[in-house]
Amino acid sequence: MDINNIIHGNCIEKLNDIDDNSVDLIYFDPPFFTQRKHTLTNKDNSKTFAFDDKYNSIEEYLSMIERVIEQSKRILKNTGSVFLHCDKTASHHIRLVLDRVLGRDNFQSEIIWTYKRWSNAKKGLLNAHQVIFFYSKTQDFKFNTLYTDYSATTNLDQILQDRERNANGKSVYKRDEYGNTVLGKEKRGVPLSDVWEIPYLNPKARERTGYPTQKPVVLLTQLINIATDEGDLVLDPFCGSGTTCVAAKYLQRKYIGIDISGDAVELAKMRLEEMIISESNLLNKGVNEYYEKTEKELALLQNINAFPVQRNSGIDGFLKEHFGGAPVPIKIQKEDETLEDAIKKLEKSSHGKNYIMKILIQTKETNVSRLFRLETDVTILKSLELQTKELANKNNKLRAAKVLQ
Ligand SMILES: C[S@@+](CC[C@H](N)C(=O)[O-])C[C@H]1O[C@@H](n2cnc3c(N)ncnc32)[C@H](O)[C@@H]1O
Repeated sequence: MDINNIIHGNCIEKLNDIDDNSVDLIYFDPPFFTQRKHTLTNKDNSKTFAFDDKYNSIEEYLSMIERVIEQSKRILKNTGSVFLHCDKTASHHIRLVLDRVLGRDNFQSEIIWTYKRWSNAKKGLLNAHQVIFFYSKTQDFKFNTLYTDYSATTNLDQILQDRERNANGKSVYKRDEYGNTVLGKEKRGVPLSDVWEIPYLNPKARERTGYPTQKPVVLLTQLINIATDEGDLVLDPFCGSGTTCVAAKYLQRKYIGIDISGDAVELAKMRLEEMIISESNLLNKGVNEYYEKTEKELALLQNINAFPVQRNSGIDGFLKEHFGGAPVPIKIQKEDETLEDAIKKLEKSSHGKNYIMKILIQTKETNVSRLFRLETDVTILKSLELQTKELANKNNKLRAAKVLQ
């Protein structure tokens, strides 16, 4: 079969054309047995993509999955691995099929891909993860350990010192003959765990093609880096928009993609020419970059029972309770803002939104005569700190006046 190509057809038939023991990694993201048709349109609404995820029974679905796993076992090298992407709909059934065909001993990990979701139309817990089963063909599988940064709560200073067991079997710092602690080997970080927090493609992401259930390239690059080296062969028998092949090409691996949909094949081929991969700010900078509220601002918002809003210069929060059926935006006056500037920013961010009430929390004293000239429907609340300061000033003035009398 052609290497570095996308093949059009049913993978159950097309896999017959691949030689035994020839593939290093097989990732597959088949339909999940949702029993519906998945449809989505691209960014400029010029093309609608769809694929069917309807089967007559779970047995029919599992029999299709089983045939692909059997073929995978045949074509994988002894050092190769399978990563099977599914979700709660059928993961429990699929795991048993994987055990049966590849052997329970070759189960390596159940990877949880987790991402943030914002709304939940249904009663119940918000679903925010999918599952990727990682099985090797033999115990002699290729595996490259990836490392992540230590968490904020890790005491790195302690980790960098060597430890040993004392006479009571307790782990203690190792000391040299002068009583100084012994420094340990260079550390590369924490080995990657089986819970991967990778953002779902946002609607504006450059790499979004409009193909339903398209996976982010970073999810695939992580997986390919774990199980292969440069020049290895990666196969995706349900390649859809070609995400796996794009990630493989980017990492200088060889690839084969297969899909039953002609539209998917055409799209995947186009993506492999364009090679558009979005940078994830969330992944690059870490989630903490997005939290820019000071403790004082968070306390002000908490006092009036409001949710904080990050990265918006005109709105710092919203009241948890709506007013007149509409959300209530809150702005906190910043150290370098006049009251007028703060009001203007709140008004600009609220423009065209039909908010009935808008609140500005004033944090600094202001020139009263200027305030009279402001024409605004923004409600101004003085922060408790400002009210206390104003009260103290008033009392001081009264005391001074009494002394003068
Ligand atoms: C969940 S989507 C894959 C999405 C892909 N991972 C991506 O990032 O775009 C599943 C794909 O499997 C394809 N498919 C379903 N049955 C197939 C079969 N028997 N052989 C090959 N492809 C099939 C569908 O056309 C669909 O594109």
